[in-house]
Amino acid sequence: MESSVIVLALACLAALLAFISKKTQNTKKRNPPGPKPWPIIGNLHQLPPLPHISLHLLAKKYGEIMQVKYGSGTVVVASSPKMAEEFLKTHDNVFASRPPLASGKYTGYNFQDMTWTPAGPHWRKARKVYLTEIFTPKRLNSFEYIRVEERQRFLSGLYAKSGNPVLLKNEIRRYTLSSISRVVLRDKYFSDHKTDTSLVSISEFHEMIDEWMVLNGVINIGDWIPWLRVFDLQGYVKRMKVLRDKFDAFHNYVIADHMAQKDLAGKNFVPKDMVDVLLQLSEDDTDPEVKLSIEAVKALVHDLMPGGTDTSGTTMEWAIHEILRHPDVLAKLREELDKVTNGGERWVQEDDFPQMPYLEAIIKETLRLHPLSPLLAPHFALEDCNVAGYDIAKGTTVLINTWSIGRHPDHWEDPYEFKPERFLQGKEISMTGQDFTLLPFGSGRRKCPGYTLGLRLVRTTVANIFHGFNWKLPEGMKSEDICMVERYGLTTCPEVTLSIIPEPRLPIHLYK
Ligand code: HEM
Repeated sequence: MESSVIVLALACLAALLAFISKKTQNTKKRNPPGPKPWPIIGNLHQLPPLPHISLHLLAKKYGEIMQVKYGSGTVVVASSPKMAEEFLKTHDNVFASRPPLASGKYTGYNFQDMTWTPAGPHWRKARKVYLTEIFTPKRLNSFEYIRVEERQRFLSGLYAKSGNPVLLKNEIRRYTLSSISRVVLRDKYFSDHKTDTSLVSISEFHEMIDEWMVLNGVINIGDWIPWLRVFDLQGYVKRMKVLRDKFDAFHNYVIADHMAQKDLAGKNFVPKDMVDVLLQLSEDDTDPEVKLSIEAVKALVHDLMPGGTDTSGTTMEWAIHEILRHPDVLAKLREELDKVTNGGERWVQEDDFPQMPYLEAIIKETLRLHPLSPLLAPHFALEDCNVAGYDIAKGTTVLINTWSIGRHPDHWEDPYEFKPERFLQGKEISMTGQDFTLLPFGSGRRKCPGYTLGLRLVRTTVANIFHGFNWKLPEGMKSEDICMVERYGLTTCPEVTLSIIPEPRLPIHLYK
C-alpha cells in the first residue's frame, strides 16, 4: 500500500515536471543562431580589424540572420536582402531607433542630432524639417549655382597643378567641404589660415570631421560592458569630449553670426543658406509638442557638415580608384562624356544625368562594392518583435551588413568583380532603398535624408574629373597596384591615399 502511494506520488511529480518543462520550452525564446559568446566580452574579440568583414565571415557559418554579443549587449546582424527587408521594411517601425551609445551622447549633442536621436517626436520633427525644408528639389536647385562655382574652382585648381602629382583625396575633401559648407553655412568660417572671421583653418576642420567619423564608428568597450564605462579603457570618451567642445565652439560662433546678420537685415531678411532657413523655422515655430530650439538647430547643422562632406568625398574616391583600375570602364565612360558634351565643348552639368546611364551604373557598382557605412548606422529595437521566426528582444542593436549584401552570391554574379554593365542589363536596380540588394543609403524611416545632394555632387565630380583630365600614375605604378584596402570608421575609406598626375584634355578656356 505504502509503495503504491510512493509510486503514485512519483508519477504525479514526474507529470508535473514534464508539464513545467514543456511549459518552459514553450515560453523559451528562439534566438537567431550565432557564435558562442565568451564570458564578459561576448564576441568582441572576433570583430577586429574590419567588423563588417568579420561579421560577413561569421554569417557564412551561422546564416542570414545571426546573433552575436558585444559584451553584455545583444546584436543581431542581417546579411541578406531578405533579412534587410524584414528589419527596414516589414518591421521598420520597431527598428527605427538608435542605440544610446557614447558617441551619440558626446558628439551628437546629447542625442539631439538626427543621426543619433532615438525615434520619437524630436526625431520625427527633425526629419520633417530636413525633408520638407532642406532637401527639397527646389531648395537644392536654388543652390546649384554654388555647386557649379565650387566645381569650376576645383577643376581650375587641378589644371593649375597639371603635370605634377596631386593627392586627389585632399583636393576632393577641400572641394566637398566648400561645396557643402557654402550651402549649409557660407564658407567664411574656414580659410587656409585662421582669420578674423574664420574660426578654424580648413585642415583643422577636416581633422575634426575625420575624428567625428572615427569616433562614431568605433566599438567603445564602455558601451557594451557597462561596469567598465568609468575607466574609459580606450580613451574614446575623452576624445569625444574634446571634439564636442571644438564643434560646439564652432557652431555657437556660426549661429551667433547668422543671428546678428538676420537682426541687421530686419524685415528685408532673406535666407541665404541652410542655417538661415533653420533659424527662421525656429523663430516661427509654434509647435507646442516639440519646439525647434536653437540647441536643436545647432544639432541639425552639426549633422549636415560631417554627414555631407566625408560621405560624398569618400564615394568619389572609391569610384576614381575603381575607374583607374579598369581602363575598359574609363574608355566607355569617356564615350558617354564626349557624347553628352558634344565632343568636349563644355563641362558635364547636373541636367546631363538622365543621358548618362553608364556613369550611373559606375556609381551604383562603386556603392555596391564600397558602401560607405558597411553596417549602416546601428538600428535599435523599441519593443520585442518576431522576425523571420526568431524572437528579437526590445533593446537589441541591429546591424544591416550592406557590404555582405552587395556581395551576396545568390543576387550578384561574380560578386567581387567591378562590372558596371550589370546595372544596364535586365530589371533596373534602384540604389535609394527600394531594392534590398543594394542599400548604400539604407531604406525606410532612417534612410539617408541627404542622398539627393550627395548623389548630385558625386555624379558631376566623377564625370568631370575624367572628362577634364587624363590621369597618370606615378612612375613604375600599374593600375592594378592601386590599393583597395579599407580603413574602418562610420564611413569606410581607402587606406592609402592615391597620388596621381593630371593632364588636361579639353580646350584651355574651359579651365579658366
Ligand atoms: C554619397 C553620399 C552619402 C551616403 C553614401 C550616405 C549614407 C548614409 C547612410 C548609410 C545612412 C544611415 C542609414 C540607416 O541608418 O539606415 C545615412 C544617414 C544619414 N545621412 Fe547620409 N549619406 C550620404 C550623403 C549625405 C549628405 C550629403 C547628408 C547631408 C548633408 C547626409 C546626412 C545624413 C543624416 C542626417 C543621416 C541620419 C538619418 C537618420 O538617422 O534619421 N548624408 N547616410
